[in-house]
Amino acid sequence: MKLADNKATLSFSNGSPSIDMPVYSGNIGPDVIDVRKLYADSGMFTYDPGYLSTASCQSGITFIDGDKGELLYRGYPIEQLADKADFLDTCYLLLNGELPVGQQSKDFHKLINQHTMVNEQMQFFLRGFRRDAHPMAVLTGLVGALSAFYHDSTDINNPEHRHIAAIRLIAKMPTLVAMAYKYGLGQPYMYPQNNLSYAGNFLRMMFGTPCEEYVVNPVLERAMDRIFTLHADHEQNASTSTVRLCGSSGTNPFAAIAAGVACLWGPAHGGANEACLKMLGEIQDSGGVAKVGEFMEKVKDKNSGVKLMGFGHRVYKNYDPRAKLMQKTCDEVLKELGLENDPLFKLAKELERIALEDEYFVSRKLYPNVDFYSGVVLSAIGIPVNMFTGIFTLARTVGWIAQLNEMISDPEYKIGRPRQLYTGSVRRNVQR
Ligand code: SDX
Repeated sequence: MKLADNKATLSFSNGSPSIDMPVYSGNIGPDVIDVRKLYADSGMFTYDPGYLSTASCQSGITFIDGDKGELLYRGYPIEQLADKADFLDTCYLLLNGELPVGQQSKDFHKLINQHTMVNEQMQFFLRGFRRDAHPMAVLTGLVGALSAFYHDSTDINNPEHRHIAAIRLIAKMPTLVAMAYKYGLGQPYMYPQNNLSYAGNFLRMMFGTPCEEYVVNPVLERAMDRIFTLHADHEQNASTSTVRLCGSSGTNPFAAIAAGVACLWGPAHGGANEACLKMLGEIQDSGGVAKVGEFMEKVKDKNSGVKLMGFGHRVYKNYDPRAKLMQKTCDEVLKELGLENDPLFKLAKELERIALEDEYFVSRKLYPNVDFYSGVVLSAIGIPVNMFTGIFTLARTVGWIAQLNEMISDPEYKIGRPRQLYTGSVRRNVQR
């Protein structure tokens, strides 16, 4: 970051001395006011619950322009990566800052493929769960448990440990997600088959059985790979900020990523795709497109507590570019599977059409986000609703790791420790 030819002066109406604060610029995007010395100079904190106006760090990984609806991974537009790179090349880009070329790409794909198996003990860990446990509860446990198996890569301050932990997490997440799915079905686990692509391997571990050969459908394989790319990273979202804060204590990378898994599960965040498909299903069951108007009135009624899941975003005040790519992927998958008339997809398109013309949504700049169509395409591929956030977890793991490693590699990083505005009881004595 570089000092801007600007500064901020904070003045107080009660006559307290004004305070000058430096302003820094990044390469693109808003400048920042450096308030690090504010408490020391004024005895006051900034107040920003939800961090609506707070930059928690500097980062060179992902840039979002919410007004333009632009998403860049290391400077490359998501539309170009979704079209010209596969997910593992995108992982390499997020981790290393550049796309792999030639042998670099082949070596990285091979390295990941050599770490796809998990310790055989992990299957016994799963047995502690009820068969109907939510897969995200299982995954939160499994990812945290990885730190019990890989003591040779838990020192977050060791660059070599950070590297091997990154490879292990990216490589093993598909295996763990598929195991969580199979455990819920009561079906045997499928071992990874390393002659398949990353996405093909995942589809086989999810839908294959030992009883017959599983043939990967190339259209679904490409769609799955693109879905992973679209979810790979997204600046300082709630789960990434959780991973950064958790990792800032120096805990091991597996524990920090497990914290991210737990955060992503929430319906306001990664759980929105599951909530969105449930919402579409409920509208469909109550009468489908004919009931959309009635549903929309509920959404606009503050007292109903009903939200249009998959719509709105803290940063995007324009179309989420991932939603457009997800809709295109949806089209391709439904056509491949002969489901062009999928009622949920048609319902989703009608909901989107109505919302984009409705003053309530237009005035609040509410547009479809990444979760609006992902549920429809995941469902068409055969992934059950309760596994949707698991897919998001699989894809976002690389983003969490890249952001965690960027923080730990920054010599200026400190343990995160926000303060508060205290509104509780003043000092008082126990009267007993
Ligand atoms: C993800 O941060 C990231 O980058 C996340 C993510 C990533 O890749 O990591 O992009 C992934 O989490 C996508 C978002 C998935 N969540 C949903 O789809 C759930 C539905 N969306 C909302 O819960 C909401 O839009 C949020 C949580 C996503 C954003 O909320 P904000 O920024 O805190 O905005 P807000 O709640 O203050 O809303 C502003 C107004 C409010 O109305 P008013 O009080 O001004 O009258 O818009 C309304 C809200 O009530 N509103 C909605 C709405 N979202 C916001 N009204 C109806 N339906 C919605 N979906």
